[in-house]
Amino acid sequence: MASAPTTPMSLFFLLLLVISSVDISTSDDPTPATWPHQFHSVLYVNNSGALQILDLWYDWPNGRNFNIIQNQLGKLKYDLEWDNGTSYVYTLDSDRECRVLHFEVGILRPNWLDGATYLGQRHVDGFLCNVWEKVDFIWYYEDVVTKRPVHWLFYTGMSAHVMTFEVGAQLEDEKWNAPVYCFEEAAQLESNKSSLVEPMAINYSHGRLARGVLDA
Ligand SMILES: *[C@@H]1O[C@H](CO)[C@@H](O)[C@H](O)[C@H]1NC(C)=O
Ligand SMILES: *[C@@H]1O[C@H](CO)[C@@H](O)[C@H](O)[C@H]1NC(C)=O
Ligand SMILES: *[C@@H]1O[C@H](CO)[C@@H](O)[C@H](O)[C@H]1NC(C)=O
Ligand SMILES: *[C@@H]1O[C@H](CO)[C@@H](O)[C@H](O)[C@H]1NC(C)=O
Repeated sequence: MASAPTTPMSLFFLLLLVISSVDISTSDDPTPATWPHQFHSVLYVNNSGALQILDLWYDWPNGRNFNIIQNQLGKLKYDLEWDNGTSYVYTLDSDRECRVLHFEVGILRPNWLDGATYLGQRHVDGFLCNVWEKVDFIWYYEDVVTKRPVHWLFYTGMSAHVMTFEVGAQLEDEKWNAPVYCFEEAAQLESNKSSLVEPMAINYSHGRLARGVLDA
């Protein structure tokens, strides 16, 4: 019968055909590995000459991300980010500094690199990497063999070198607590005097902004 193409089953197969032809028509360019849902990474960061060691704990299932930043011979700073948009940036020293920030977007999604533009292969830090660029914000270098990130370069010139990448590593729950002075009004006022947020390893105002752009 000539009416066969309009049956739901035919439509289903037509759809399959469309989907598979889309797959076939995409280029052979490699795509960046999706971020593991939980990992710990130590990064060596150079922010226009200011050097930092960044301890990064990414925890997507629990909607949280922690950047623990040691400035060279300087302050140890904690940037605790929640997926609801709230971030606590604080020290744990006698200064008792804390700043609470609110962002329109949450933490980076595991697939935040989707849609990045492939730029080819390059050697960086002694590793052969695939390189992608996303919205003129980040250049992302991933080891061709292990698919682990090796190097991130931000449009500001800030660079991060991935020193360790422990898939599945988790920071104990107790550590994901901002200190009590983050919740005291006096501490919040005090925080205005500090420049706690400015010299951050990764400018998360940009990062969050980019995520808003990236996920739009
Ligand atoms: C850090 O980056 C600056 C450029 O922004 C460069 O001049 C400097 O040599 C770098 N320092 C280190 C230790 O890599
Ligand atoms: C987001 O979650 C954190 C951790 O549970 C909480 O401290 C903060 O108040 C929440 N922010 C908002 C806007 O609900
Ligand atoms: C602290 O900063 C907030 C917002 O940045 C402002 O509304 C508040 O008035 C400031 N407080 C003091 C004491 O400067
Ligand atoms: C971080 O980004 C915000 C928003 O774009 C900008 O106003 C601020 O100057 C930046 N801070 C640094 C240290 O780059």
